[in-house]
Formats: sequence, C-alpha cells, structure tokens
Amino acid sequence: MQKLTDKLDRPIVLVGLMGAGKSTVGRRLAKLLGLPFVDTDTEIEEAAGTTTAELFERYGENDFREGERRLVARLIDGTVRVIATGGGAFVDPQTRRLLNDRAITVWLDAPVEVLAERTGRRDTRPLLRTGDPAETLARLAEQRHPMYAEAHIHIRSGDGPHSNVVEAIVAAVGEHLDK
Ligand code: S3P
Repeated sequence: MQKLTDKLDRPIVLVGLMGAGKSTVGRRLAKLLGLPFVDTDTEIEEAAGTTTAELFERYGENDFREGERRLVARLIDGTVRVIATGGGAFVDPQTRRLLNDRAITVWLDAPVEVLAERTGRRDTRPLLRTGDPAETLARLAEQRHPMYAEAHIHIRSGDGPHSNVVEAIVAAVGEHLDK
C-alpha cells in the first residue's frame, strides 16, 4: 500500500449517486492508504451548523450547489487525500472539469435497487423526501450516468462487502497511475 501512496500525487475523489457508499468506502480507503479523509456533505453541514436537508429547505438547492462548488474547489489545493463528494457535485460541469484535471476521479456505481435499499435506511436526503425514492433514484441515474461516466475510473459495486470495493479501487488507481 505504501507504494501506491508514494506514487499518488493527487487526491482520490469518489463520485456517484446517493447510497453508492462514497462516504463509507472513502473513509476506509483513506485509512488503508494512511491519508486524510474529507466528506463534502459533512464539511458543508459543519460549516453551516445544520443538515443538508435543512439547507435545501431554507436556502434552496441552487445555494447548496454554489457552496458545494466552492468547497470542492478549495479542497483541490494539492493535498493528497480521499474526498467523498455529494452525489450532485460531479454533475456540475465546472466541478467535473476541475476534478478530472487535478484529481483521480472514481465513479462508484451500484444498481438502483441497492441504492434504494441503502438510502431507505435513513431519511436524511432532501431529494428523496418527496415522491417515490426508487423512482427518483432511477431518474437521477438516467440523467447523471453520462456525467459520472466521465470519471477516470468506473467501479461497479453491488450489495457485497465494502472491503471488496476498497480493494478494487486500490487496484484501479494503481493501474491508472501506471498508464
Ligand atoms: C445529493 C446527494 C447528497 C447531498 C444532497 C444532494 C445529490 O449526498 O449532497 O442531498 O444531488 O445527489 P450523498 O450522495 O452523499 O447522499
């Protein structure tokens, strides 16, 4: 693992839909590589002193997106770390370009049924609070997959253990750096 960490000159950024496991996998990956971990939703919530859902409700999605864009730009400051982004961050063209230029981007891709099952465990996601969450996730998957597909690395994950996903990322990042 030390070899991979020695070779890394950029952050590893996890992108993908809600429930794909970006935060859990990101934290584990960072621990394995001995790198700092940042979760953009958590950073935004800590800075605002409130939840993402509350921010959407009080200020609207556009304000949240603006804050998210600025935060991601600030986090891409040359520090080598693992960053888990909120599901909408990589959809923004500016953020996508910045991340693909200055980071190694990894799309965590899971079937909609898995996403629906995982996100259904907690009622924290504002976009899933209205309507049928599985339908919303299916719609977002259709809209966003072309953008997520621009990430450098595509990892398919099912409902198996997160440790498998972490291992797959380590292998894929190693290959990407050797290219
Ligand atoms: C969002 C995903 C959420 C959070 C916000 C909006 C999205 O993050 O940023 O609720 O647009 O997909 P997670 O992907 O970590 O759930």
